[in-house]
Amino acid sequence: LDNGLLRQPPMGWLTWQRFRCVTNCQEDPDTCISENLIRTQAQLLVQGGYLAAGYEYIIIDDCWLSTARAPNGSLQPDSKRFPSGIRALADYVHSLGLKLGIYEDYGTETCGGYPGSLGHLEQDAKTFADWTVDYLKLDGCYADIKDFDTGYPAMEHALNATGFPIAFSCSWPAYQEFSKMKPNYTAIAQTCNLWRNWDDIDDSWESVYTILQWFGDNQDRLSPFHGPGHWNDPDMIVVGNYGLSPGQSRAQMALWSIMAAPLILSVDLRTISSWARDIILNKNLIAINQDPLGAMGRRILQLNDHVEIWSKPLLDDRVAFVALYPEPYGTPIHLSVNLTDLGLIRYQDYNFFESFYGSFLGKYHYTDKYNFTINPSGDVHAFYVESATPRKRFHK
Ligand code: DGJ
Repeated sequence: LDNGLLRQPPMGWLTWQRFRCVTNCQEDPDTCISENLIRTQAQLLVQGGYLAAGYEYIIIDDCWLSTARAPNGSLQPDSKRFPSGIRALADYVHSLGLKLGIYEDYGTETCGGYPGSLGHLEQDAKTFADWTVDYLKLDGCYADIKDFDTGYPAMEHALNATGFPIAFSCSWPAYQEFSKMKPNYTAIAQTCNLWRNWDDIDDSWESVYTILQWFGDNQDRLSPFHGPGHWNDPDMIVVGNYGLSPGQSRAQMALWSIMAAPLILSVDLRTISSWARDIILNKNLIAINQDPLGAMGRRILQLNDHVEIWSKPLLDDRVAFVALYPEPYGTPIHLSVNLTDLGLIRYQDYNFFESFYGSFLGKYHYTDKYNFTINPSGDVHAFYVESATPRKRFHK
């Protein structure tokens, strides 16, 4: 969507994966979907260095609404859990330097059973603009998915008409892909700043890996529509929760960076471990993700033992790579790959660097092989290369 927003993949934090639809604040006062949760996590986004690293959107997913609209038909939050209202919450979030995102649904109800936007698109767009909401995730439960091709553009039109800049996250293709319809990605990229293509992510390696494979299998269809202002979205980063090992956490962060995917965390920032925080805040991976070209990385090689290598072109002819070893067979695997098979043919010589730490790995001629090791069970070796071919020198 060419609205000037999200020229780089969005970075932020979202309630859904970690906090779901917990609404009983008596039983779960610290984790129920409420203004307290949002304020607390917003403070930690700032204090923990996440905002400084680029994570700027804090997004409330499903289950924030009251079960009924106000007498004038407008949306209203649950008054017990959001007693100060969304505008006050937005003001607070903005005062910290963050942006606020919110969730609604195109259909008659949200997936969690709260009032949907159908029949109220314009009114709801105005409400979000009045509340100074910066980002809308519009889900697709309880709707006729054939209507999405006109319905999502209608909502974009309504958002645009408010004059307030609101990034637009769509679930339009996800529901259509699931029903084996062919989504019109040309229209989707014109209408949405990002869009969920596929299944919801859960807190497990199986879920992360299945989504990754779906994106690899469909990369030729998806990558032409990926770029500044319009992003495919493989769903949240689940690093820092209960399900991923350190290696698998490195893998998700490295691969989501290669895909130039939205980096939307869903984690309790009060209890996150320092190793998970370090992975999420890794500057080099974030730079790969946020590279101005905005190219969607691709799975370029599938080797034995289900090892796969992904690559992403970066500005100035640099290229980032991630090699993933998913098998659980105990011991690290040693690999040897021709530079030509990595697509490194343009220059004579390349300097290789490890991506997490930026350490120099050596200089290779394009006819060489690159040897490396990956730990098992879903760990990665991440590296990037730049030309080492000496430039012509000019003397005064
Ligand atoms: C389905 C979406 O795909 C999820 O990300 C989440 O928003 C839930 N609905 C909320 O009900």
